[in-house]
Amino acid sequence: MKQVVSFDDVLAEIAVLVRPHFGKGRTAQYIPQLAGVNPNQFGMAICTIKGEEHAIGDADVSFSAQSITKLFALGLALNSIGDEVWTRVGKEPSGTPFNYLSQLEHEEGIPRNPFINAGALAVTDILLNHAAEPDALVRDFMGMLGVAHLAIDEDVAVSELETAHKNRAIANLMRSFGTITHDAEAVVEAYCRQCAVTVTCRQLARAALPLAARGFSPLIEETIFPERLTRRLNALLLTCGTYDSVGSFAYRVGLPSKSGVGGGLVAVIPDHAVVAVWAPELDRFGTSVVGAYALEYFSQLTNCSVL
Ligand code: DON
Repeated sequence: MKQVVSFDDVLAEIAVLVRPHFGKGRTAQYIPQLAGVNPNQFGMAICTIKGEEHAIGDADVSFSAQSITKLFALGLALNSIGDEVWTRVGKEPSGTPFNYLSQLEHEEGIPRNPFINAGALAVTDILLNHAAEPDALVRDFMGMLGVAHLAIDEDVAVSELETAHKNRAIANLMRSFGTITHDAEAVVEAYCRQCAVTVTCRQLARAALPLAARGFSPLIEETIFPERLTRRLNALLLTCGTYDSVGSFAYRVGLPSKSGVGGGLVAVIPDHAVVAVWAPELDRFGTSVVGAYALEYFSQLTNCSVL
């Protein structure tokens, strides 16, 4: 990437460019606590591998990380059992919504990838072998990398657990195939609690920084992932990070990215920086509408793309 523009100028320009895109999506309606979030919020933060930070708008306001936590849970699972993870879950784009059920039955309980809910539930099941509370493990891992004390929003966790009928169905189906080994309800509970971790754009950009720095966190000066694993995590983000819109997302943004139904998005510019954006209104794929536009403008204005 050739950075010929100042990131502060880029962020200021993006904040103007995204304005017409508010009102085009809806907050996550299926989680009552998220449905009521003020939709008119927008934050964006950039953290470079040199440790420089640039931020605009609501970049220091906490939001529900939701599926973005799946990236960190996967990193923990791969760091702890390595390639054995891939005996439990695939590495292919699913072409289906993140909470799709019937593909799982056809494919005998093996989820297509670790970012759809089925795959994330399998990862939680793996983490349950190593920790009594995988949700706290993921929260603390993200907090350590983000140089922050992160919380689990108990109201969001309860709200999602009360309405997690589809995730219960997925977990029980996987239990019937033996691809989940713990009690399905315990897996769903840990997964929902993990999704309820709250984070700000600035903390998220910091937390994902090892993915831009070949696995090293310049902030805490520690190697978090081996370099080869870092490349692979970025490959999974690029091919599976935004579910059944991953092709058009790569076409528009061209960066390995992960979305969450809290309206957050994180994108990696290998060897350069991480960009995190938050705006709560979602498209039908569960991706922030304004966030996706913000990343699209970012890659256009900076010429940042891995493609
Ligand atoms: O499983 C769910 O429905 C949520 N806790 C997480 C979904 C999510 O964030 C999908 N990503 N955009």
